Amino acid sequence: MRATARACANIAFVKYWGKRDPALNLPAAGSLSLTLDGLHTTTTVSFGGAAEDTLVVDGAELPPRALRKAQVVLDLVRRQAGLELPALVESQNSFPTGAGLASSASGLAALALASSAAAGLRLPPEALSVLARRGSGSACRSVFGGFVEWRAGVRADGSDSHAVPLCPPEHWDLRALVVVLSEEPKAVGSTRGMLATAQSSPFQPAFVASVDGDLAEARRAVAERDLGALTRVAERSCLRMHGAMMAADPPLIYLRPESWAVIRAVRELRGAGLPVFFTADAGPNVKVFHPPEVGRELRQTLGALPGVSRLIEARPGPGASLVEP
Ligand code: PMV
Repeated sequence: MRATARACANIAFVKYWGKRDPALNLPAAGSLSLTLDGLHTTTTVSFGGAAEDTLVVDGAELPPRALRKAQVVLDLVRRQAGLELPALVESQNSFPTGAGLASSASGLAALALASSAAAGLRLPPEALSVLARRGSGSACRSVFGGFVEWRAGVRADGSDSHAVPLCPPEHWDLRALVVVLSEEPKAVGSTRGMLATAQSSPFQPAFVASVDGDLAEARRAVAERDLGALTRVAERSCLRMHGAMMAADPPLIYLRPESWAVIRAVRELRGAGLPVFFTADAGPNVKVFHPPEVGRELRQTLGALPGVSRLIEARPGPGASLVEP
């Protein structure tokens, strides 16, 4: 009745922003990401370990409202396993939680694996990806390592909306430098943000319509390790997503002046010949992708920018796995 799993965060090159079914976390379009070593969540689930469902993250018990996503996964597992026991969920993040560093992806993927294993279920990877998706959309991608695509699927029940591995972590040693500007949880979470964008941004349909073309280009760029092509598609997808967010009413602005300074520096470095590109999610932090040999210069330049509180380095990482006690 107890199991521990570890899963890594992932960062999308082609962004997921918008749901065709909010209850099932079915996306309006597909997305494509890289799973990152070094940014991971380790989660232990014990059914019967507490009097009611309890979630402890980095040693602090979270209030009941923070349990909602986890309980969606726990309830699905309990139903499938015929269990009625409450769960104690203990999670440890290797990075700041909730600041746009994809802690929900690693957290919900680790929870899906730990809870299903603790309940005695042995789910195949695609079913595990579907389960993780129910907790948080992007978590379905963290089930797999390396370069991963989330296929949007067409079925109403979401059974074909799961991630698939494209290339293993060893395929391409693309590094990520996470430029941390804020470690505070974001003001507007992704669920609320996506809903607001869908309801009020005239640019959202254009963003969604551009995804299929971006996916085709990103798939090819990854397969051929074509950094120039991946640069174009990843920056474009990121900025179109932020464009759609900023055009919502009221506007949704996640990037700060310091984020734009990082983006500008990355573009200047690229102009000077450095193979680097940026992306950013629903928070102010910027992630910069690059081959290993330019890491030092990148750290020196970006680490000196105003407002940068720390730099986290990551490399392509593995999929979710069970951890022996
Ligand atoms: O999985 P969620 O609901 O936390 O949404 C994540 C959305 C972005 O991180 C902004 C983009 C993405 O594809 O990861």
